[in-house]
Amino acid sequence: MFQTVTKTLLVSSSSLVYRSICQSLRHYCNQSSTKLRVSEALAGAELGKNVRVQGWVRSVRPQKKNIFLHVNDGSSLQSLQVVGGAELSDPLLTFGSAVEVTGTLRKSPHPQQPVELGADQIHVVGECNSVDFPFKIKERHSLEYIRQLPHLRCRTNVFSSLLRVRSEATTAVHSYFKSNGFLQIHTPTITSNDCEGAGELFQVEPSGPDFEEEVNFFSVPAFLTVSGQLHLEVMSGSFSRVYTFGPTFRAENSQSRRHLAEFFMVEAEISFTQSLEDLTKVMEGMFRSTTEHVLAHCADDVGLFHKHVTPGHRDRVDAMLKQSFPVITYSEAIDILNRSSENFTFPTDWGCDLKTEHEKYLVKHCGDVPVFITDYPYDLKPFYARDNQDQPKHTAAAVDLLVPGVGELCGGSLREERLSLLKARLEDVGLEEIYSWYLDLRRFGSVPHGGFGMGFERYLQCILGVNNIKDVISFPRFSHSCLL
Ligand code: 4AD
Ligand code: MG
Repeated sequence: MFQTVTKTLLVSSSSLVYRSICQSLRHYCNQSSTKLRVSEALAGAELGKNVRVQGWVRSVRPQKKNIFLHVNDGSSLQSLQVVGGAELSDPLLTFGSAVEVTGTLRKSPHPQQPVELGADQIHVVGECNSVDFPFKIKERHSLEYIRQLPHLRCRTNVFSSLLRVRSEATTAVHSYFKSNGFLQIHTPTITSNDCEGAGELFQVEPSGPDFEEEVNFFSVPAFLTVSGQLHLEVMSGSFSRVYTFGPTFRAENSQSRRHLAEFFMVEAEISFTQSLEDLTKVMEGMFRSTTEHVLAHCADDVGLFHKHVTPGHRDRVDAMLKQSFPVITYSEAIDILNRSSENFTFPTDWGCDLKTEHEKYLVKHCGDVPVFITDYPYDLKPFYARDNQDQPKHTAAAVDLLVPGVGELCGGSLREERLSLLKARLEDVGLEEIYSWYLDLRRFGSVPHGGFGMGFERYLQCILGVNNIKDVISFPRFSHSCLL
């Protein structure tokens, strides 16, 4: 009865008294209706009952007798169809406006959707001027266009799908590690070491006038972390399986489609291992189980990318999961490159770093599936990589995972656990003093161990087929850009 009165009042008056009556009635109606998320409504929860749904309007179709809306609250790609009498039409009901709808959830007569919400009441919570709103109804905006609007792009279908996939993939990564006996470690964001030794560090100092410029806040130079590896190695002196998953920072002056200044890295460290195979098993296991989880739990969202962003990419992902990932040594990779008829820009002599063009070629050569490259030249790898003590081609026990469309996805190695060798290498590069604590790890109960890191954004690029890394992170940071 109250709902009928509300409807009548909605069309007959706009006075203040009327508004306050409406508010009281809405309050009453809200108390008697169950609040549902769009995904719950679509799944048919509370069918036939009085429910309340809140969200943003994705389409509006006023007709003579009825008004049709699609309302989305971010819980699924699909929106909920709302059908109301024409008397519920309101010029403020525009694409992008925020609404609260109360009514009865019922089976839909249309085959496209299982249920619809027969509205008794539609309340515009937040208006949206569709002339000024940078997204237009029914238009498919490019990833490049929406990237310019980091404060609004989550309101597009494509970016909300991305964010759901990202969230689900995060859950899947954690669940893989949990079910495989890994302990999660919160490694620090601020650190005094440069794990990779590449000098791509952002220094951290206070910016206020109260601090003397010549004195470091932490009394030593401090930086945003480039990797949690060394802190994981500390923990692997007591826990045989640890991992961390958090933001990492690199001051790479690169505008490339696969580099960010802030990106998320999944890193794992395993104690009591002397074989790269123990690492590749975990890398492959994590890749497979995360991908299978995402494909199963985000089918619509992944489907949107595979249908509209990179048509045909689903077949590529299925092919990646079909067979186990091939493993070749760096030396074999160099032979493959040198035998090819390709005109590479960069040299392919033994000892040279593998560039993107080489990685691409190797992936294609191996059947367009992920491929492990092992045993890199010793001189190409950081101080912590384990010396294979071979000659004349001196290598380290390091491994990268290269994947289709992206190139390097994971980098890892066995760590040099032998005190004398590690000490000598640190002495060579003048880092013995700074890393005396790291040498301690080898002095007290040192065990053979190893680990790897996976760039989380590159992983998302790989499974969704997204060309530019800036389109798979909520707020991309790269040289000359830090919007918001
Ligand atoms: O190969 P990287 O530099 O390895 C390490 O940092 C090791 N300490 C990890 C470890 O063993 N725990 O980085 C690991 C991965 C790369 O393979 C790549 O996927 C990603 O991190 N990555 C980046 N992703 C986006 N933007 C950047 N600037 C990246 N730099 C590395
Ligand atoms: Mg690397």
